[in-house]
Amino acid sequence: MPDIRNIVILTGAGISAESGLATFRGPDGLWEGHRVEDVCTPEALARNPELVHRFYDERRAKLAEVTPNAAHEALAELDHQWPGELLIVTQNVDDLHERAGANRMLHMHGELMSALCAACGASKLWHDPMPPGTACPFCNAHSLRPDIVFFGEMPYEMERIDAALREADLFVSIGTSGAVYPAAGFVQTARHVGAETLELNLDPSAGSIYFHDTRIGPASVLVPEWVNSLLAG
Ligand code: APR
Repeated sequence: MPDIRNIVILTGAGISAESGLATFRGPDGLWEGHRVEDVCTPEALARNPELVHRFYDERRAKLAEVTPNAAHEALAELDHQWPGELLIVTQNVDDLHERAGANRMLHMHGELMSALCAACGASKLWHDPMPPGTACPFCNAHSLRPDIVFFGEMPYEMERIDAALREADLFVSIGTSGAVYPAAGFVQTARHVGAETLELNLDPSAGSIYFHDTRIGPASVLVPEWVNSLLAG
């Protein structure tokens, strides 16, 4: 492995599957039970706020019942041990990376455990159900919504992500189908700047052809193996 200093890691729903959280596009995926258009667009929120708030209330409640798995724990260990730059960019809205101890990370699609005010733009840690019309604790407008980036909305922290990708020596994609942009295009940015690219996934993904190396298997096995080999030098 050539000299690796700066690492960017992209995670998707597959890293949380073994913790018991549903993915989106696999068997029993969330998009099997709900249409994206009904629960994950600004139009859906305007048309049927009760359905959209209930969908995220149910996922937030489920999150309290599950725990991080060996893949989250291995990434947190890497975060603590790695002397160079490291950024975990998760598409996931669960808090399992944080609960495993990861620090150098960001949620590009928002967080279940956060509420966003549609009036003043403030966000706040939120663990409880959030009925439509819940008052914002900052501006008092009755306009709190799930702090989730809906389809058609701009993902969070894209400048920070792009800057990290442009400095990356290694880009690793874990547990994502490569179905949704801009995340699905990160591997191409990394290759463009000469980074090594590695995919760890249960199945080949839509982006597998862009990776120098694709390893097929469960994240709870592949991620600790990869982290241990990297830390062993
Ligand atoms: N270990 C590793 N990979 C797994 C595991 C596992 N145990 N289980 C499933 N996977 C893989 C699947 O093979 C699949 O490629 O995880 C991927 C999950 O794909 P999706 O369900 O499409 O989830 P994701 O890629 O995170 O979706 C991206 O789409 O709907 C939007 O905003 C939503 O963030 C989400 C985005």
